[in-house]
Amino acid sequence: MKKHFLITAGPTREPLDPVRYLTNRSSGKMGYALAGAARHEGHRVTLISGPCDLDVPEGVDYLPVETAAEMYGAVERYIAKSDIAIFAAAVADYRPAHVPEHKIKKTGDTLTIDFIKNPDILGSARTEFGYEGTLIGFAAETENVEENARGKLQRKGCDFVVANDVSRKDIGFDSSENEVMLVFAEHTEPLPKDDKYQLSLDIIARALAI
Ligand code: CTP
Repeated sequence: MKKHFLITAGPTREPLDPVRYLTNRSSGKMGYALAGAARHEGHRVTLISGPCDLDVPEGVDYLPVETAAEMYGAVERYIAKSDIAIFAAAVADYRPAHVPEHKIKKTGDTLTIDFIKNPDILGSARTEFGYEGTLIGFAAETENVEENARGKLQRKGCDFVVANDVSRKDIGFDSSENEVMLVFAEHTEPLPKDDKYQLSLDIIARALAI
């Protein structure tokens, strides 16, 4: 059965002033691999992506966004149409509380910027958006990987969480390979280290089996 996937990918970009922004090291490779693999398997795919230097897989409905707030708005608008939602984006947890209209000048020896919390997009899926489809989150951890991922699964109402150890240099963020475990409520399935496209096929197969 062909399904409709909604996938978030890439980093978000939070403006500090008109010429500067705060972002993170996410390359978007995992989210784009998921989008490409789901499309290749014949599914319909909506890809909501922060700024990435990657080609958009052919045949995918592509919605570019910059900030976490824009990503939240796009997910809110499109999630009800999807059967399976996968949140692979590395969303900035905070944004500057105030973005000045003009460039910040180097007037002092130190600079203090107040940040406020961004909305948790994945955490809003069940509660705010009333989403009832299959929900998959990602957890990038540096310690207690399985335990932290299971906490996220419970807090955010996911069917499973794709967890990886980002303290390892050989996998994750900018790499084309990753080694992940799929953390379910009652059990964990470690997947062998593989390229992100092959892992995507495995993740999609598990999502379709729910
Ligand atoms: N996520 C999201 N919106 C946010 C933050 C995170 O949709 N504002 C999603 C990510 O796409 C990912 C999952 O939530 O699927 C992991 O989020 P993370 O920030 O690691 O989890 P938290 O529960 O916020 O915990 P932590 O304290 O580790 O940041």
